[in-house]
Amino acid sequence: MKKVLVVGSLNMDFAVYMDRRPQAGETVMAQSMKLVPGGKGANQAYALGKLGARTAMIGAVGTDTFGEQMLANLESVSVDTAGVKKITGAETGKAFIEIDSSGQNSISVIAGANAAVDETLVQGQEKLFAKADAVVMQLEIPVPSVLAAAKLAKKHGKLVVLDPAPARADLPDELWAHVDITKPNETELALLTGLPTGTADEAVTAAKFLLSKGVKNVLVTLGGEGTLLVGAGQVERIPAYQVKAVDTTAAGDCFLAAFVSYFTGSNFAEAIDFGAKAASIAVTRQGAQTSIPTKEEVEKFC
Ligand code: ATP
Ligand code: RIB
Repeated sequence: MKKVLVVGSLNMDFAVYMDRRPQAGETVMAQSMKLVPGGKGANQAYALGKLGARTAMIGAVGTDTFGEQMLANLESVSVDTAGVKKITGAETGKAFIEIDSSGQNSISVIAGANAAVDETLVQGQEKLFAKADAVVMQLEIPVPSVLAAAKLAKKHGKLVVLDPAPARADLPDELWAHVDITKPNETELALLTGLPTGTADEAVTAAKFLLSKGVKNVLVTLGGEGTLLVGAGQVERIPAYQVKAVDTTAAGDCFLAAFVSYFTGSNFAEAIDFGAKAASIAVTRQGAQTSIPTKEEVEKFC
């Protein structure tokens, strides 16, 4: 069984459903609100666990009810949460998500305890890096901690996977040099590189810019338009599946987790297709972790 370590964030999501998201200065009426376990790190750990990978997580929650709920949800799919620290006096991270009738969203995050995931916390869990086959990270914890995790993963010879979200333009080149696989969407890729990504050719050029910084493979996700795989000497487009999206929250998290769970080291196209199947099920369901399918559901899809 594949062993994966996720180093990242845990947020309680306040998901608000509405016909259309408000413009600046505008008030709209919404239909409903749900509290759902989320956070890019926790979503990926939960999805990996649900899809059958032996998964451990490093992160932090507050000593509040949301933190307990987040941990219980991860443990319900057998994720080892011993590396998730409870920070006394801190609040568990929160995300405020507006979802419109086409399933698209806008998200604001309050880091809370996620900001306390420092290099010492990460380095104190070195044994989890030694045990894993792959280490998966995102950018909702401090960047120096992500770099520390990438260095530890490489020290132990592990596959390093970075979801560069939320994207930022100031990532150190040293981080990219440690990354085997990264998965920006086209908007994130533009922010990360400062290059246009409006067309497929532009996205390939921007992805190659990341390759020049030492990344080995870039998976550019294009929502319902599929995924562009850009590696050394290789550019391939893998299609998405046509479904009616009701909520795309955590589509990328589900895609990446399913990809990693299926990836054997060289089967990129098949693993991306497995990720696309999992994500296309997730977008037909509301919420972040509530939308993640089982391995059996993905295998039965189409
Ligand atoms: P997130 O909403 O979690 O931030 P993302 O922006 O990182 O997601 P996307 O490009 O939206 O990532 O989606 C990841 C994958 O999920 C896509 O490559 C695709 O396979 C699938 N997907 C996303 N949206 C849709 C959709 N509307 N219909 C079908 N598949 C979709
Ligand atoms: O990727 C989706 C996630 O982004 C949400 O669950 C929210 O918590 C934010 O972190």
